[in-house]
Amino acid sequence: MASPSPSPSLPSIEADTVIRNIGQLVTVAQTPIAGASGALQVIDHAAIAVHDGRITWLGPDDEAEPFFQHTTPMAIDSITLFDARGAVVTPGFVDSHTHLIFAGNRAEEFHLRRAGVSYSTLLAQGRGVLTTMKATREASNETLLTSAQSRLASIRHYGTTTVEIKTGYGLNMQSEEACLRLIKQLQEGEEDSTQKYGKIRIVPTFLGAHSVPPEYKDKRTAYIDLLIEEMLPKFVGLARFCDVFCEHEAFSLEESRRILTRAKELGYQLKLHADQLSPSGGAQLATELGAISADHLDHTSDADLDALREAGVVATLLPGCSYTLRSPYPSARRLLDRGLCVALATDFNPGTSYCENMQMVLGLAMSNMGMSLEEALTATTINGARALALHHETGSVEVGKRCELALWSVSDYHEIGYHFGINLIQSVLVVR
Ligand code: NIG
Ligand code: FE
Repeated sequence: MASPSPSPSLPSIEADTVIRNIGQLVTVAQTPIAGASGALQVIDHAAIAVHDGRITWLGPDDEAEPFFQHTTPMAIDSITLFDARGAVVTPGFVDSHTHLIFAGNRAEEFHLRRAGVSYSTLLAQGRGVLTTMKATREASNETLLTSAQSRLASIRHYGTTTVEIKTGYGLNMQSEEACLRLIKQLQEGEEDSTQKYGKIRIVPTFLGAHSVPPEYKDKRTAYIDLLIEEMLPKFVGLARFCDVFCEHEAFSLEESRRILTRAKELGYQLKLHADQLSPSGGAQLATELGAISADHLDHTSDADLDALREAGVVATLLPGCSYTLRSPYPSARRLLDRGLCVALATDFNPGTSYCENMQMVLGLAMSNMGMSLEEALTATTINGARALALHHETGSVEVGKRCELALWSVSDYHEIGYHFGINLIQSVLVVR
């Protein structure tokens, strides 16, 4: 049978992959959203065309038909066709804040905290981050890699397609470098060019300034010198971001400024753990240095929030910490109403948020932080991408962007965040 000639109104669209039969396509937003989100763009019965990993077309499924009519039979063979079987499709989650490389766990401290011992008390006792540092330094690279791989598999299983990974449990040259090289190994595994589908994106962050290690307890300036003079220059190219835990119990405002200023000079992009346990000045520093994001913000003043907004710094909220530490949830509503660009992330780590599931984070933000579903979806996708300076590449479904999708086993996207405690993700679909 002769194939019909292409409709003159239809530009020829390149496609090596076509995803059809999408029940509901929630594309989210074209650009990151500051302030409250309104309705999201939704296309019922949709299809997506992809070429070389980039979306070349999206629209109603019945309009996808011409792709097949105006390609020769041979070209049809070169198109991989996915049948979404009516699934709801959103952008994959972008988890912009995790501490995924570590050994051991801290169940013991979790139960001590339930019995009333505070996180700050444990830190002051040399536990907390330093408990995990000890386990991480003692672990072999193989043990660290295997556990990281299984955590990555779990992260993907719950719908995340881009994940940031911080170091910060090595806290010396050798162990921090080993962790960065492991992140690179994970990244290369994911970027394996022989595999076109299913891979996720990893963004490495250096967090040598997570805590002062015990061997520098009485000479903390020497540890900061080590960070500034040796580690930061050595890790250029291995890490994209530099982060600092700016807090009374970790690094002071002045120490954080020194570290981040040097990191900026060396070309790192900046992040801060800011105002998590107390008003530490971290948000001000993020503003002053033009950080990409300031994370936590549990104790940030209105004036500092306004300054973050004016400087275009993403405010990343981490409800898993409030859940775990049983501390008050920061109000996302307050930030949205002040016009900030809010992202949500897991903060996956063994101390304050042992959770790799972005659906849980989204649900917590809706039930405890005053976010609508539309705002929480925005915060976990396009705004998360902006918190990694990747919003031109991913975080929404649109022509020109990477095809990084989550397929949901719900019949309408309004069931997201409503049906809770189970995994609603069928699979992720990443086309490289
Ligand atoms: O983001 N606050 C600092 N860092 C982590 C906790 C790390 C840990 O307790 O191991 C956080 O909450
Ligand atoms: Fe963190």
